Amino acid sequence: MLQAAEAGRLCPKHGRQERGKLSLRIGQALPLCLLHTCRHLPSRAASQRFDCYPERRVVVTQELCESRGCCFIQSPPLAEGKQGVPWCFYPPDFPSYALESLNQTALGMVGVLVRREKAYYPRDIEKLRLDVEFETDTRLHIKITDAANPRYEVPLDVPRVTKRAENPIYSLNFSWDPFGVLLQRKATGAVLLNTTVAPLIFADQFLQISTSLPSKFLYGLGEHRDSFLHSLDWNTLTFWARDVAPTESFNLYGAHPFYLLMEEGGNAHGVFLLNSNAMEVALQPAPGLTWRTIGGVLDFYIFLGPDPNMVIQQYQQVIGFPAMPPIWALGFHLCRWGYGSSNETWQTVRAMRNYQIPQDAQWNDIDYMDGYRDFTLDSQKFTSLPSLVEDLHKHGQRYVMILDAGISSTSPHGSYWPFDEGLRRGLFLNTTKGQPLIGQVWPGFTAFPDFSNPDTHQWWLENLQHFYAHVPFDGVWIDMNEPSNFMDGSEDGCPPGELDSPPYTPAVLGDSLSAKTVCASAEQKASVHYNLHNLYGLMEAKATASALVRIRGKRPFLVSRSTFPSQGRYSGHWLGDNRSGWHRPLLDLFGIPLVGADICGFSGSTSEELCTRWMQLGAFYPFSRNHNTQNEQDPTAFSPAARTAMKDVLLTRYSLLPFLYTLFHRAHLQGDTVARPLFFEFPRDVATWELDRQFLWGQSLLVTPVLEPGVDSVTGYIPQGTWYDFYTGSSLNSSGEMLKMSAPLEHLNLHVRGGSILPTQKPGTTTGVTRGNPLRLIVALSSHATAWGDLFWDDGESLDTFEKGNYSYVVFNVTQVGCGGEGRSGGPMAPGHLDTEATKVTIGTLSIFGVQKPPSKVLLNGQEKPFSYLDNQVWPHFRVPFAGRGSPC
Ligand code: NOJ
Repeated sequence: MLQAAEAGRLCPKHGRQERGKLSLRIGQALPLCLLHTCRHLPSRAASQRFDCYPERRVVVTQELCESRGCCFIQSPPLAEGKQGVPWCFYPPDFPSYALESLNQTALGMVGVLVRREKAYYPRDIEKLRLDVEFETDTRLHIKITDAANPRYEVPLDVPRVTKRAENPIYSLNFSWDPFGVLLQRKATGAVLLNTTVAPLIFADQFLQISTSLPSKFLYGLGEHRDSFLHSLDWNTLTFWARDVAPTESFNLYGAHPFYLLMEEGGNAHGVFLLNSNAMEVALQPAPGLTWRTIGGVLDFYIFLGPDPNMVIQQYQQVIGFPAMPPIWALGFHLCRWGYGSSNETWQTVRAMRNYQIPQDAQWNDIDYMDGYRDFTLDSQKFTSLPSLVEDLHKHGQRYVMILDAGISSTSPHGSYWPFDEGLRRGLFLNTTKGQPLIGQVWPGFTAFPDFSNPDTHQWWLENLQHFYAHVPFDGVWIDMNEPSNFMDGSEDGCPPGELDSPPYTPAVLGDSLSAKTVCASAEQKASVHYNLHNLYGLMEAKATASALVRIRGKRPFLVSRSTFPSQGRYSGHWLGDNRSGWHRPLLDLFGIPLVGADICGFSGSTSEELCTRWMQLGAFYPFSRNHNTQNEQDPTAFSPAARTAMKDVLLTRYSLLPFLYTLFHRAHLQGDTVARPLFFEFPRDVATWELDRQFLWGQSLLVTPVLEPGVDSVTGYIPQGTWYDFYTGSSLNSSGEMLKMSAPLEHLNLHVRGGSILPTQKPGTTTGVTRGNPLRLIVALSSHATAWGDLFWDDGESLDTFEKGNYSYVVFNVTQVGCGGEGRSGGPMAPGHLDTEATKVTIGTLSIFGVQKPPSKVLLNGQEKPFSYLDNQVWPHFRVPFAGRGSPC
């Protein structure tokens, strides 16, 4: 806790002395006061007050507030846990940094910022270095750090820019004294950032910068359970990876300090703070935002879009595009914590096969381990696991098992290689005394691998190799990697000091950095845990992905609970321990397209109705896994009607596999999102900005799930344009309106956007079987009778197929004069090479939605073909080799 008198700012209560001599330097603890008085400030709009006393556990008094040189106006107290207008706030002339010099560099500018008066946190840094790089016409990089001493920086390998942007769509100006950044969008004049609204503070363990915002439509800032569109009503979001069931206002498993904001008129921009320290973002109705972090540097990337899709693409150009998953990752996954044995697990797999319910992967939770120790097998209850895995493989299915981050530090059998060897090689997090830090997770006492150490990656690989020799798994599920600890800190608590008890602790759950994790002072190869905590899941994912590649030689599949920007390059993500309940869908803004929640809910008990509706929603999660604890909730556990509804919707997902896979290719290639909010496609339609009960796959498939019990209809927004019912092809023209749709329990509403072509396939019960079936192209004509679609096709599991050119990419196009397909492989147009990947695939059917009158004939490459016509749809019947060019119109 900060000592009130520490900063030496002892102003009289209602009025201040004259500003002290500007020659005073930092460290001179002379009582300095400001010329300014707080008296006239009540008139300042409350929404514009920037909090000078954010310490959550302190009831700020006038004395405490004024000891910081801030203004105090008491507002009526709010309900427990609610935030409101800050009582203690910065006066306009609170001392900040001044920009002392600014010089041109090849990519932008370099400047020096100087603070002439101390602020109120210890170890204020007097001189800062400002680096500005105009990296692209739509991307700006601003970094502020200590001018004299290096500080911790996140090791993210951002591609280097070598040339200054020539025609930036933004203009940047500075306020010199006090220092401030003013960023505008040239086209509209919108002020995207104005950091003069509050002082910049840069102390060793307290860095703060505030800005005004051009609108209240702000998204992102994960991982939180708050609504999709964040409230700016004095809302503070905290970032510190934490194992806790997702709850509003808590810091959750991952940290993603990135926001996207919609500007008036439909432009969008994004801001990313590349910083891994414990952090909070305070949002206020001004509208305004304050970044507050307790370490590292202020390293901002700003993306100008101008549309939301482009913002997310530009963000991923910095953090890296996501990995291409193996195609089986897009099938249905089944898991449970509580399968008592491998035989019981096998029973479930058989039951799923018996009912012909699609399933690509069977998973096991920690039940399979011997005493919950990683890389061991319960030799009694899971004896048949290797045979189960063999059987899964024979059926074209896969096996995935869990691994926890903590490694048991005790062993009933005398030796336990993972710990013994890890200890021998010195691969665990250490206490400040240089001993392995011991906490407690499922197996009891545990040590925590230091994944910031490259040697740990080798040891992790060897562990995986040993286990693989018994159980040839296909993917890995990395859990408890915040890292989670059932103790606070360690078995010995945490040592006193400013890492575990920093001068300012963001409003993390448990009020301490070590709450349910390891000590922040723990020592790691790359730095102290204080700096690395939020990176733990990312670093473990890197180690696991590369081990999987080494072992299997194929595209790795893994999901991680804890995540950080750039995670998508290595893993997918599931949303942790949700409860069975009626929730909103999730949408991806963070470059991890392979994401999904535990379908039907992890804890609590689901009902048949809830689980049916959730399976319908979950069939459209990019990562679709039903997982829970204890009770059975897989599709076979329900009545025939519910089971059939679940099976049908999974078949629908499998039928869309070529479309979904192509979306993942686009995500990998250029950072397109897979499950997308409506406003991404309709940014000029303000009505879409708040919609979070529906979503799109790509540009063209609208999903409207039922998210409440006891209804047989659902009301959803249909954006302006022509849309078609996915199942029947019947069309509707919307002017942009809410529509009540019939939604009996067995039905999920899906609409195809006019103008698009969806490659689909006759579904099988695995992705492997599905891929052997003929394609059906759903052609949804626009009002101008045009349509466009594409298809990416490769072998579904080899490494770097795109990068090596081992793929086919086909564009389907319908124009008024005809339709056809064009393909390429390996980059440049080379239709002749299509055979390499796509010889066995044929197009079996075209369903053309929106044909007003029956055609007199249908020609394929000049030859007449039979067709059906019903309800404005034409179905020509033919089979074209996919590798060929065709014009079936
Ligand atoms: C916590 C995970 O979030 C959950 O999915 C898993 O079932 C349990 N750990 C047990 O391993």
